[in-house]
Amino acid sequence: MNPNCKKRMGAIRLEVMRVVSQEEIAPAIFELVLEGEMVEAMKAGQFLHLRVPDDAHLLRRPISISSIDKPNNQCHLIYRVEGSGTAIFSRLKADDFLDVMGPQGNGFDLSELDDYCKVLLVGGGIGVPPLLEVAKQLHERGVEITTVLGFSTKDAVILEDELAKYSQVFVTTDDGTYGIKGNVSVVINEFDTEFDAIYSCGAPGMMKYINQTFHDHPRAYLSLESRMACGMGACYACVLKVPDSEIVSQRVCEDGPVFKTGTVVL
Ligand SMILES: Cc1cc2nc3c(=O)[nH]c(=O)nc-3n(C[C@H](O)[C@H](O)[C@H](O)COP(=O)(O)OP(=O)(O)OC[C@H]3O[C@@H](n4cnc5c(N)ncnc54)[C@H](O)[C@@H]3O)c2cc1C
Ligand code: FES
Repeated sequence: MNPNCKKRMGAIRLEVMRVVSQEEIAPAIFELVLEGEMVEAMKAGQFLHLRVPDDAHLLRRPISISSIDKPNNQCHLIYRVEGSGTAIFSRLKADDFLDVMGPQGNGFDLSELDDYCKVLLVGGGIGVPPLLEVAKQLHERGVEITTVLGFSTKDAVILEDELAKYSQVFVTTDDGTYGIKGNVSVVINEFDTEFDAIYSCGAPGMMKYINQTFHDHPRAYLSLESRMACGMGACYACVLKVPDSEIVSQRVCEDGPVFKTGTVVL
């Protein structure tokens, strides 16, 4: 693969990015650092559609951008090995190259938040990574951030220390082996703070809870997953229904992955 290959097809951007480093940060969870010009265009909450470097895998794999380092043209991705595609990613080493489409999707709307504002971040499991860039950017503006993270067990806890640099962090585990026993609702239901915005990403059950709890909040956002094929809005493999409509749908790859609460059926 030619490491200098870059092309734009309409609004779709493809680039062969260089692997800067890769590290296993928790059992089966890897942090991959990539370098390339595409970083300049990245926003918090967008994702990259990664070609698996193996000809047997035709579909790209979507992975969220965890943090963005524009001065160094680098971005961080954090992913869990689920199947054969992510297993192949986990074997990438420094100075390998990866064919990347992106940045894809809309990202989180972080506008109009300043040092008078209070924001709640809610992340679950491998949904935590995209919230790191949100925390970084809002902290720079002086926003007061509270983060609630939910994991299955102690071994699965990631990014607690990194998020603690920017926010007050509460951790829950389902089995009580770390932090508060239970899920994020145990913490969130006790808050009496009026948050100006809520940003969340996690498993379907957590997203349903946030969608219900903050249904009518004007600035509550869910970052959602769906099985994807093209990843660029063309195939409609990733659609979600819209409330009270049989015909209108939303594509997670193009209209999302970030949606306001109350705007899609979960
Ligand atoms: C917008 C978006 C952002 C994501 N961000 C992250 C992230 O930051 N970190 C992370 O660990 N995972 C993330 N995922 C999930 C990740 O894409 C899947 O775990 C991955 O595609 C699995 O590929 P595989 O070949 O290892 O697994 P396999 O099960 O072998 O995959 C088979 C097929 O199913 C698709 N697939 C499997 N699981 C998912 C899933 N949960 N969502 C979408 N497609 C899936 C694969 O892309 C592939 O086409 C994200 C998914 C989406 C939609
Ligand atoms: S994956 Fe093709 S439209 Fe979303």
